[in-house]
Amino acid sequence: MMSRRVVGLAALAAGLGAPALAAEPTTIALPPPWKSGGKPLADALWARRSTREFADTPVPIPLLSNLLWSAYGINRPASSDRTAPSWRHAIESAIYVAAADGVWLYDPRRHRLTQVVADDLRAQTGVQDFVGNAPLTLVYVADGSRLEGAAGDDKRFWAFTDTGFIGQNVYLFCASEGLATVFRASFDRAVLAQSLRLAPTKIITCAQTVGYPKT
Ligand SMILES: Cc1cc2nc3c(=O)[nH]c(=O)nc-3n(C[C@H](O)[C@H](O)[C@H](O)COP(=O)(O)O)c2cc1C
Repeated sequence: MMSRRVVGLAALAAGLGAPALAAEPTTIALPPPWKSGGKPLADALWARRSTREFADTPVPIPLLSNLLWSAYGINRPASSDRTAPSWRHAIESAIYVAAADGVWLYDPRRHRLTQVVADDLRAQTGVQDFVGNAPLTLVYVADGSRLEGAAGDDKRFWAFTDTGFIGQNVYLFCASEGLATVFRASFDRAVLAQSLRLAPTKIITCAQTVGYPKT
């Protein structure tokens, strides 16, 4: 069987010139995100689509930096507000990045990634064959304790709604930058929550695979 090229985020970051912080080897300091650029909005909208065939090519760290910032980064530093809206300003969403060398949590304030699990959990983020091999899957997790004002099922409703905005940011970023992506809801949330050792208040909403399209 032919072996697939597997490159983890830590190896990619090391190749960039040691953005991994010495005192915290499981942390990757992302380069500052873009302030301008990309395709005009209309061009990105014309290109937006779901793609389910991914090349093995890794997504470089500078591109991942822009991707995560576009998804849910801070666009108003004075207030730490984000590129996606949230129900009653709850800002309850978090992005976990499942890669070959583990799962990394995006910290928008410090614009960095911290490894939370060292295992390759990509296959657990979906039920379709491409999921286990595509370079990255973003897993969206809401902190239910930040949605206290919502009654009953509404908590999950707002968590999923807010995730949709992040997902569309990712779709448009990918359309702009020539990346492939698909937003996904089908996977075993209980299994993944256990592997990620999530607190019971956390709600895994959806996942979104990102990589270069297979040519
Ligand atoms: C809430 C939601 C859940 C989805 N779940 C999956 C999924 O589990 N697997 C998948 O391959 N696509 C999934 N999709 C992608 C849709 O199938 C896709 O958006 C739809 O077929 C339209 O195609 P387009 O995005 O290219 O316009 C999901 C999309 C949304 C919005």
